[in-house]
Amino acid sequence: MANENKLQAVIAHAKEYGFVFPSSEIYDGLGAVYDYGQWGAELKKNLKDYWWRWMTQTNDKNIVGIDSAIFMHPQVWKASGHVDNFSDPMIDNKDSKKRYRVDHLIEGFIEELKRKAFEKIRGKSEDSLLDEGHIVSVADEDVIKDENYLKAIQLEKDLDKLIAADDFAGLKQLIEDNKIACSVSKTVNWTDVRQFNLMFSTEVGSVAEESSKIYLRPETAQGIFVNFLNVQKTARMKIPFGIAQIGKAFRNEIVARGFIFRMREFEQMEMQFFVRPGTQKEWYEYWKAERLKWHLDLGIDPAKYRYHDHVKLAHYADAACDIEFDFPMGFKELEGIHSRTDFDLKSHQELSKKKMQYFDADVDPETGKAYGNYIPYVIETSIGLDRAFLAVLSEAYEEEDLSTEEKQDSRAVLKLSPKIAPIKLAVLPLMKKDGLPEVATELMAECRKHFKCFYEEKDAIGKRYRRMDAIGTPFCVTIDHQSKEDGTVTIRHRDSMAQERVHMSEVANIVKAAVSY
Ligand code: GAP
Repeated sequence: MANENKLQAVIAHAKEYGFVFPSSEIYDGLGAVYDYGQWGAELKKNLKDYWWRWMTQTNDKNIVGIDSAIFMHPQVWKASGHVDNFSDPMIDNKDSKKRYRVDHLIEGFIEELKRKAFEKIRGKSEDSLLDEGHIVSVADEDVIKDENYLKAIQLEKDLDKLIAADDFAGLKQLIEDNKIACSVSKTVNWTDVRQFNLMFSTEVGSVAEESSKIYLRPETAQGIFVNFLNVQKTARMKIPFGIAQIGKAFRNEIVARGFIFRMREFEQMEMQFFVRPGTQKEWYEYWKAERLKWHLDLGIDPAKYRYHDHVKLAHYADAACDIEFDFPMGFKELEGIHSRTDFDLKSHQELSKKKMQYFDADVDPETGKAYGNYIPYVIETSIGLDRAFLAVLSEAYEEEDLSTEEKQDSRAVLKLSPKIAPIKLAVLPLMKKDGLPEVATELMAECRKHFKCFYEEKDAIGKRYRRMDAIGTPFCVTIDHQSKEDGTVTIRHRDSMAQERVHMSEVANIVKAAVSY
């Protein structure tokens, strides 16, 4: 399926089956804000649990979790650099009044050039060739010699250079020289490039004169930094140790597209790992490798992930990379791993005038003395929960043709890892009579103690299977007349659709074995 079609199919499926709805849909929605429906909320919670357990329980790296407030003292964002630096270069089209992030505008143009090169050489788009079963590669010799392709590669290099140098005049020149037009007005009538802060602000206080401006946090990390000593002291943590947190973050994204990929209200799962200065490089490499393992444990094809090392580093980092995922829109950032130095703790110490130091009693083998007081360095792992959701959902979604010579048939199925599937087991009595619902209810009572189950007695069994396939339920159990006689049931496996006869007493264990981690 072509990539754009795949994204549209995933969005439609997510809505039809209760995973994701546009926010305030009856009022035509709110840009880049989404609600999670009944199965989406389960899937999202399972992803959170999977991350939380991995960070704070199964991991031997001494990590505890916290839950800090969304509102924080405004000085926090001054110290963190967000008031002064958390902005993106934007440009407005004077005719349509549409605002663009400069890098996205140029990247869109680069993609278009590459697409043209491909179509010119092959006669068709890459997606349609793939759909027809051809093996194609953009590294195809003819394609990479094409003038459009060469121009795209040069533009990529120029863009990286200009962004790294914060050269706004140069970026505008690049847009004008290449006649990059607004998609609405189709003109190249652009304003100068300017910086726009992405934080949302609001007021606290009941009376206007006494109120003060505060921000909705744009990252959860600062809640961890300001609580660093509270946690270290009360939990008696010894360096190296980590603090993890899951929570909402807010950014006034200008170009919000790609469904739940780029939202204005989203959730992050972040972990700050506090280390001795000088050891940050080895811990950075450690977490880079570990985080990829977490993703791969979800059973997704490793070829869908890649690292992208940053050339331009954020104001707080001495090394940084993204774990990118091959979303339906192509490879994009899913998680960031940053070596944040002592920037945040040091800035908070300076602005708050409160010591953010740790006393390290371990002896330095070189000096023979205790390491003593220092501000720790920090390695951060930061993943967007909604992006992780989109990654697993789009990867799991398949439309299968099940036609035989006798009849046409197909199914939409979510091949989600059983660990995160919203419902683990559906219990389906074949009929609504003859005591079958009673047997099914007994099995439900036993299984729902261990995992999320779903009961349904309406409609033909084939239809019920399809509904469970569409929401990714890994197991369905059918109760029939034989179940009443010998206590056996039919268990159906979602992906292979294979069915086997097992004793009812085995069902809970079969499902538990598949969903546990
Ligand atoms: N504390 C570091 C930090 O916030 P970031 O790279 O800006 O770093 C981390 O964000 C992760 O949060 C990203 O890798 C992405 O998965 C997610 N994220 C960032 N902005 C987002 C948005 N507007 N919508 C959804 N997820 C977003």
